[in-house]
Amino acid sequence: MKQFTSVADVQNIDELLKTALAIKADPFGQQEVGKNKTVGLIFFNPSLRTRLSSIKAAYNLGANTWVLNAGADSWTLEMADGTVMDGDSQEHITEAIQVMSAYCDVLGVRTFPKLVDREEDYQEVMFNKVKGLSSVPVVSLESATLHPLQSFADLITIAEKTGYEPGKALAKKVKVVMTWAPHPRRLPQAVPNSFAEWFSKVDWVDFTIVQPKGYELDPRFTEGATIAYDQDEALKEADFVYAKNWSSFENYGEVIPQEKDWQVTYEKMETTNDGKFMHCLPVRRNVVVADEVLDSDYSIVIDEATNRIYSAQTVFHELLKNK
Ligand code: CP
Repeated sequence: MKQFTSVADVQNIDELLKTALAIKADPFGQQEVGKNKTVGLIFFNPSLRTRLSSIKAAYNLGANTWVLNAGADSWTLEMADGTVMDGDSQEHITEAIQVMSAYCDVLGVRTFPKLVDREEDYQEVMFNKVKGLSSVPVVSLESATLHPLQSFADLITIAEKTGYEPGKALAKKVKVVMTWAPHPRRLPQAVPNSFAEWFSKVDWVDFTIVQPKGYELDPRFTEGATIAYDQDEALKEADFVYAKNWSSFENYGEVIPQEKDWQVTYEKMETTNDGKFMHCLPVRRNVVVADEVLDSDYSIVIDEATNRIYSAQTVFHELLKNK
């Protein structure tokens, strides 16, 4: 693996999953890989899990970390090329990224979309600018359109909960349903795009996306998934219910009001196959999902967040092992 920006960077998902499960079983067993190495983490946007799990992952590997909240901890960065920098920006991204990548062996970057110009966001202008300037491999800590470390952690979680062993077929495919859920703010499509992109490629999973009309994701990410619009019907007999809000892709960044309540409730979970509730977190309680679900045995959100460590550790391991 040369970088980790989407599932397209993974040659063999099953092999990567096998490595992750082995690393989780022996988390301090690969410290030679990280010895004298540094993982740099740049956040242009807030984070709890990605930031802390990446630090923990690097620590487990024996590597050092530094973290920069760009623009807050550092000089105010100028992103546009050709600008006369006589305003508030003190340093250009061109020098900043070249300098920061000189200070690490792997560079993790978080850049959210602006949700204004779909072309700009979906061309990953900001993320690609950082990637182009970095002298070391880049890891997405969530870009405008994708969150692959989250999706990989979700895959590890579902594999663990089903007892899936890489290379060995399950007796029956696992039914995974990603459902749109309400939210008071307009959110990016990065998590659902990424989840769809990964799970459409997992052959031991039967994958459905259920959403209100107008919330269809970019078809480049959903090819192979079953697309549904009736949440009650889709959740029946589900083994995993993956809830997430996202704003409209078609009417870019818009929120389309819904008459029906799409919140995941205890009653809805009772129609599943004793299904497990998943969410990437942070989650709005009693908006996206009811307390009764999050506080019940249905919920595996903490297992999922815990696996963010092993997702990141596996990716850092793969990128550092031959350096
Ligand atoms: N799931 C996730 O990426 O969480 P943070 O935004 O807190 O990093």
